[in-house]
Amino acid sequence: MPKRKRKPRNVDASDVNGEDTVILHETVPLQLRYYGDPVLRKRAKPVAEITDAELQFAEQMFMTLEATGNGIGLAATQVGVLKRIIIINIGEVDDEVYEPLALFNPEILSAEGEIVAEEGCLSIPDVTADVKRPERIVVEGINAERESIRIEADGLLARVLLHEIDHLNGVLFIDRLGGLKRRLLSDALLRLQRAERPS
Ligand code: NI
Repeated sequence: MPKRKRKPRNVDASDVNGEDTVILHETVPLQLRYYGDPVLRKRAKPVAEITDAELQFAEQMFMTLEATGNGIGLAATQVGVLKRIIIINIGEVDDEVYEPLALFNPEILSAEGEIVAEEGCLSIPDVTADVKRPERIVVEGINAERESIRIEADGLLARVLLHEIDHLNGVLFIDRLGGLKRRLLSDALLRLQRAERPS
């Protein structure tokens, strides 16, 4: 997704015993999975119950997103967890401030219109392309307060929601490109697929 400027967020580093003590789950980003990893092609399963562990995992996802420095959304699939969980943290773009959002079991209720905009993906580094997607959507899901919510979105928020929900279905933005655009990216994708990455 488009890059944004980020302000550094205060990390939870408490000075409990006169030493710097860090809270592990707040400070260790999860390992991102990259193009070529078969997990990115799998369909994630619904979250049966949003336990404290699920909420803590969502926090780790926020931390992981933050650590990327330029990401604005992340699906659990991208850290190798096949659960229907997405998080979005757009921040401030074009004078509009977006609240961070964690969404469990997101469902697209309706979609209308068509709009093209540039996208990228943390799992497909250094590859961007113009992607056609619905312009306005209605999405339902459960938030981090365990409330069922309905979001009417357009613009960037709609695009990020659609991109992240695609991940939960094993779909990548490059799948939504026409043949020519996809062929233009094929060398870069092949290089990514062959790249050795830390696991
Ligand atoms: Ni992505």
